[in-house]
Amino acid sequence: LRVANKFLSVEPAMRGWIADAGNYAEPVPIGGVMRSLAVGEVLESRTPAFAPGDQVTGWFGWQERAVFDAAAVVRRVRETDLPLSLALGVLGINGVTAHLALTGIGRPVAGETVLVSTAAGAVGSAVGQIAKILGCRTVGIAGGPAKVAQCRDEFGYDAAIDYKAPGLSEAIAAACPGGVNVYFDNTAGAISDAVYPQLALRARVVICGTASIPAWEPWPHGPRVERHLLVKRASMQGFVIFDHMNAYEGSVATLAQWVREGRLRYREDILDGIEACPDALAGLYRGENNGKRIIRLA
Ligand SMILES: NC(=O)c1ccc[n+]([C@@H]2O[C@H](COP(=O)([O-])OP(=O)(O)OC[C@H]3O[C@@H](n4cnc5c(N)ncnc54)[C@H](OP(=O)(O)O)[C@@H]3O)[C@@H](O)[C@H]2O)c1
Repeated sequence: LRVANKFLSVEPAMRGWIADAGNYAEPVPIGGVMRSLAVGEVLESRTPAFAPGDQVTGWFGWQERAVFDAAAVVRRVRETDLPLSLALGVLGINGVTAHLALTGIGRPVAGETVLVSTAAGAVGSAVGQIAKILGCRTVGIAGGPAKVAQCRDEFGYDAAIDYKAPGLSEAIAAACPGGVNVYFDNTAGAISDAVYPQLALRARVVICGTASIPAWEPWPHGPRVERHLLVKRASMQGFVIFDHMNAYEGSVATLAQWVREGRLRYREDILDGIEACPDALAGLYRGENNGKRIIRLA
């Protein structure tokens, strides 16, 4: 397939993909095309599965035009009534990860309290809203007063906490008086250290991301979590979207329906031109993005 990319994704995980430390994917070699999801239009096809004009999303890399085997396609974009860029955000790995990791590992029950880190971001904002759709009480953790307000006003969190302000542990305890039944963790580090003492009996911890850990060499050491898990009979499980691609299509259909019904809101942070890519990634770790960060190509 030859594809004209229209939008490129910028993912926090990319920091890991370009590092030498052990990961779930091979590091991108120096001089290689940066691994990335993208969405675009087929220009030329040598497989009957796709035709020129088809809109597809997949592993097309940070490039304007891409030539690749059809195996790189994640899916054909069928939601032509919705913006194409959503295939990289709420209808892409961010939304699908939020949906499948929350329901599969978090297993929230109506009335329970679900606590989310990076709560205003692409994954986090979807987790909070899906938990709300499932009848839970939601508490978000985000950086700074603007994102905290956004959590409450735009994404419907019942309470939101600024992790950059003093008194994080006290704020979590106050916002979760019955304890935390599901902790959807995108950051690890000091934020999680403040959460663990507040876990409720039989809590479920979803390990989805480690955004607050700048490097895994040398291996960082922190408080030990085992005692909290033991005393609370809690469980903790990691999630990587690549293990769940067979559930992707069904999840997108559910998410798209919620978007159409106005029950699932999203925010996009769009930068222009391929030149913006490298600093767009660095900016994620400065918390500069307001929603799903993507690059628009002319
Ligand atoms: N496991 C999977 O399969 C999978 C799939 C997709 C994404 N993820 C993970 O999900 C998480 C969120 O991804 P996303 O695409 O939705 O990104 P995002 O939340 O839209 O953007 C990243 C956010 O991380 C926060 N952040 C950056 N540095 C931080 C630090 N030192 N401490 C605490 N927070 C920090 C910032 O929010 P604030 O401004 O609020 O600090 C920033 O806006 C990431 O950890 C990502 O790796 C996992």
